[in-house]
Amino acid sequence: AATAVDGGDSTPETDRESNADPRGPLHFPPGFGWGAATSAYQIEGAAKEDGRGESVWDTFSHTPGRTRNGDTGDVAADHYHRYRDDLDLMADLGLRSYRFSISWPRIQADGAGKPNQRGLDFYRRLVDGLRERNIAPMATLFHWDLPQALQDAGGWESRDTAYRFAEYADAVFRALGDQVPVWLTINEPKTVVQNGYLWGHHAPGRQDPAAAYLVAHHLQLAHGLAVQALRATGGAGRIGPAFNLHPCYPADDSAEAAAATRLYDGYENRLYLDSVLKGSYPEDVLADLGPDSRMVSGIRDGDLDVIASPVDLLAVQYYTPYYVTASGDTTRRWPTSEADWQQIHPEGMYDILTRITRDYGRIPITVTENGLPCPDTLGADGTVDDSGRIDFLRDHFAAAHRAIADGVPLESYHVWSLLDNFEWAEGYDQRWGLIYVDYPTQRRVLKRSAHWYRTVIRDNGC
Ligand code: NOJ
Repeated sequence: AATAVDGGDSTPETDRESNADPRGPLHFPPGFGWGAATSAYQIEGAAKEDGRGESVWDTFSHTPGRTRNGDTGDVAADHYHRYRDDLDLMADLGLRSYRFSISWPRIQADGAGKPNQRGLDFYRRLVDGLRERNIAPMATLFHWDLPQALQDAGGWESRDTAYRFAEYADAVFRALGDQVPVWLTINEPKTVVQNGYLWGHHAPGRQDPAAAYLVAHHLQLAHGLAVQALRATGGAGRIGPAFNLHPCYPADDSAEAAAATRLYDGYENRLYLDSVLKGSYPEDVLADLGPDSRMVSGIRDGDLDVIASPVDLLAVQYYTPYYVTASGDTTRRWPTSEADWQQIHPEGMYDILTRITRDYGRIPITVTENGLPCPDTLGADGTVDDSGRIDFLRDHFAAAHRAIADGVPLESYHVWSLLDNFEWAEGYDQRWGLIYVDYPTQRRVLKRSAHWYRTVIRDNGC
C-alpha cells in the first residue's frame, strides 16, 4: 500500500516494487509526454471573480434537478486560488505535459468584445508556472462553458457563435500564443451534440435531434476558424481538435448488425474525423440525416475547406467501446465502471489508435483523456487505495504501447484527471482524479495511483 500523502513526501519504497509487473515491462519512446488533464469549469471555482461572466454550465447546474445533489462548479476544487499548490503537485508527480482549458467567460464575460485582462492574467500565471516547472502546457480553448449571453443569442445553433469563437481564440492566441506549444480547439464536440442537444442531460439541456446536428456543423466550423486564426497570428504553436472516439463493434455476426455498426460509427467517429481530416462529411450520415435536415441545409459553400484547415495533431479521448445490434441499439459486453456508460475494454484503445493511422494516415496523435471513476475514500491512515485505477491505467497504457509498436505516432498520454472534480451532471460523487480532493477542506491527497504514476513517468514505462 502507498505510505505517503500530500505529495511532498519522498517516493515510498513500495512504489519501486510496483513496477515489477508480471506481464512484462513496457518501455515507451524516449521523451514520451506523460500528462494529466483537467478543465476549467470542473476545477476552478471562483465563479464570480475577476470579471468572469456566466456560462451555460452556471445556468444549468443552478437549475434544480439538473445535477446530482444540486452540485455546481461555484467552488469546485478551488483551483483558481490554489493553482500554485496544484502546480507543485504536478511537479512532484513529474508530469511532462498538463492539459487544461481556458474559460471563455473569464476572457469575454458576454462572449464578445475586448478581452478581460484579469482573466488572461490568470492563465498567463498558470502557463508561466508550468514552464518554470518544465511541464509543457496544452490548452483547450473550449471545454463546454459557453458564455450564457451567446446561448441567449442562439448558442451553437447559431452560425454566428462559430465566428465569436474565432474572435475569442484570436484574443487568447495573442495573449498566450508564445508560451503554449499545443492548442486544442473544441473538447468533444460530439458530447455537446449528444448530451447537450440529443439527450439533454448536459447544458443547455435540449432534446432536439434536428438542432443537434446543426450544432455539430457549427462546432466543426468553429474549430476550423480557430485553426485559421492561429495561423493568422503567425504563432509557432501546434493545433488540433479533441475528439472522444468510440470503437464500434457489431454485437453479433449478422449482416444487419454489420450495417448498423457502420452507420453508428459514422455518427460517432467519421462525422468528426472525416470533416477535419478529409474535408467531407460521411455520405452515409448525410443521407441518413436527409437533404432537408437543418444540418445539411446549414452547410455553405467553402465550409468544409475551413473545417479541413490543416491541423498539426489529433487529440483522442478514449473511455469505452460500443456494441451495436441489428436494430441499431447498443448492448453491453464488458463490466462497467461507476460511470454506467463506461465499459472497461483496454483493447478499444489499441483499436481506435490503429484505426486512425490506417484510415487517416500518420497524423501525430495525443491521448488527451483516459481514466476511471473509483469509489475512493480517504482511509483512517490518510491514504486512498485506488488499485482498480492502477490496473485500468496499466492495461490501457499497454494497449497504447502496442499501438505505438505497430506504427501509431502517439506522442503523449494524459490521464483524466489530475484532481477529483465536478463531473458535470454527476456532480462531485464520481471521483476521477489521481489526486483526492477533500472538498470540505480542499486538502489534496495523492492516491495510490498518483504514486504509481510518478514511477511510470520516472521509468518511462511500467
Ligand atoms: C470527457 C470530458 O471531456 C470530461 O470533461 C469528463 O469529465 C470526462 N470525459 C469523464 O466523463
